[in-house]
Amino acid sequence: MEHVELSAADLLLRPWREADAPAVRDALRDPDIAQWNPQGGHIDDDSALLWVRRRADWSAGDHVSMAVTAAAGGQLLGSVSLHHIHHGDASIGYWTVPTARKRGVAVRAVVRLTEWAFADLRLHRVELCHAVANSASCRVADRAGYAAEGTLRESYQYGDGRRHDEHLHARLASDR
Ligand SMILES: CC(C)(COP(=O)(O)OP(=O)(O)OC[C@H]1O[C@@H](n2cnc3c(N)ncnc32)[C@H](O)[C@@H]1OP(=O)(O)O)[C@@H](O)C(=O)NCCC(=O)NCCS
Repeated sequence: MEHVELSAADLLLRPWREADAPAVRDALRDPDIAQWNPQGGHIDDDSALLWVRRRADWSAGDHVSMAVTAAAGGQLLGSVSLHHIHHGDASIGYWTVPTARKRGVAVRAVVRLTEWAFADLRLHRVELCHAVANSASCRVADRAGYAAEGTLRESYQYGDGRRHDEHLHARLASDR
């Protein structure tokens, strides 16, 4: 898959670069990101570099991973990615750095990448799962137009090493 950049008002979604590694290391050590991601907060310079290199390589066609940055100034605000892209389906994931939160960054990034996925990748359905205990992520899902479809029991192991129940949300290309 070819790299693209997507604009969304004051945001620029762009492929990851090796130069992002120090900011990624700091972000992944944030307690909330460490809790609600599978890798936890144990990340050093080498693993942060590996993280950005893997996400910058879209060649397998099974994921699209983007840095969410400020269109003016370019600082890293977050991450948004489509993964498990297969036969018209995908899953979406995201985080924002603590200083960027509660300004609508996650919702704008999720909406922009989803719209691009339907229009350009011709996806049919995108799923979004979050731990039931992660109420902020549930709000992002609702605000980004991902309808709640049910609860998955002990479906995913998060950063604390425990399996959590999750809410499944999804958007279809045919949704308004
Ligand atoms: C969840 C997360 C991505 C939200 O990012 P954000 O940029 O602050 O989200 P937005 O500003 O787009 O907010 C969207 C909605 O969620 C609400 N919200 C955000 N953080 C919240 C919180 N801690 N508690 C309650 N509501 C919250 C906002 O008020 C907004 O609702 P509104 O439009 O009704 O006001 C961010 O807190 C984060 O990175 N958390 C850790 C990692 C994580 O949970 N990732 C998702 C894994 S599924």
